[in-house]
Amino acid sequence: MLRIAHRGASGEAPENTLAAVGRAIERGAAWVEVDVQACVDGLVVIHDRTLERTTDGRGPVAGHTLAALRALDAGGGERIPLPHEMLALCRDRCGLNLELKGPGVASGLLVILNQALTDGWRAQDLLASSFDWGQLRELHGALPRVPLGVLTEQVDVAACAIARELDAAVIGCALATVDAAAVTAAHQAGCRLWVFTVNATADFERMAALGVDGVFTDHADYR
Ligand code: G3P
Ligand code: MG
Repeated sequence: MLRIAHRGASGEAPENTLAAVGRAIERGAAWVEVDVQACVDGLVVIHDRTLERTTDGRGPVAGHTLAALRALDAGGGERIPLPHEMLALCRDRCGLNLELKGPGVASGLLVILNQALTDGWRAQDLLASSFDWGQLRELHGALPRVPLGVLTEQVDVAACAIARELDAAVIGCALATVDAAAVTAAHQAGCRLWVFTVNATADFERMAALGVDGVFTDHADYR
């Protein structure tokens, strides 16, 4: 069962920073997941819609310019990273799952992903995922080579249908909803099932026993 570094090694370094992803790579993570949001004039890597929890800034990410966001402290002196910095750090070291977290990310991200493929990234080492299936559809239409992850609270008929429509590689669902039927349904839709967020030993064991393919974890132990 694959262990995906959730927001980087977020248990050991400020989440969604270059430090967190660097730490995950050092620890041997085969895959890293980070969150991408749109600001006034570009895309940044950050989870929340607002700045307060993870930075020394205030207010909505979408209301700030790149220059303003880059001046903030995202923890331990880290800057809010850009998607292309994450790509540069992960290239040839680990797979990179970019989650489209807020609205308006797809159009910018497809330019960045297209450039990554041109630069030699292998498509199978990338995953673009989202709870916003409309943005996944937009990405797929423009850049069908990039594998997609359909995020959902539970593996239901709608999630499986969109996964099939978009030829998704992964369905990502919440730990609380996973059972044997969910694993079967995801596999029948042609997808691997990745589960978020798994940190307790008993949950790792239960997911492995169910045949789950991957778990997002904050713990920097990816073996
Ligand atoms: O992609 C899985 C997981 O990251 C989704 O939840 O809120 O941690 O981005 P969240
Ligand atoms: Mg995420």
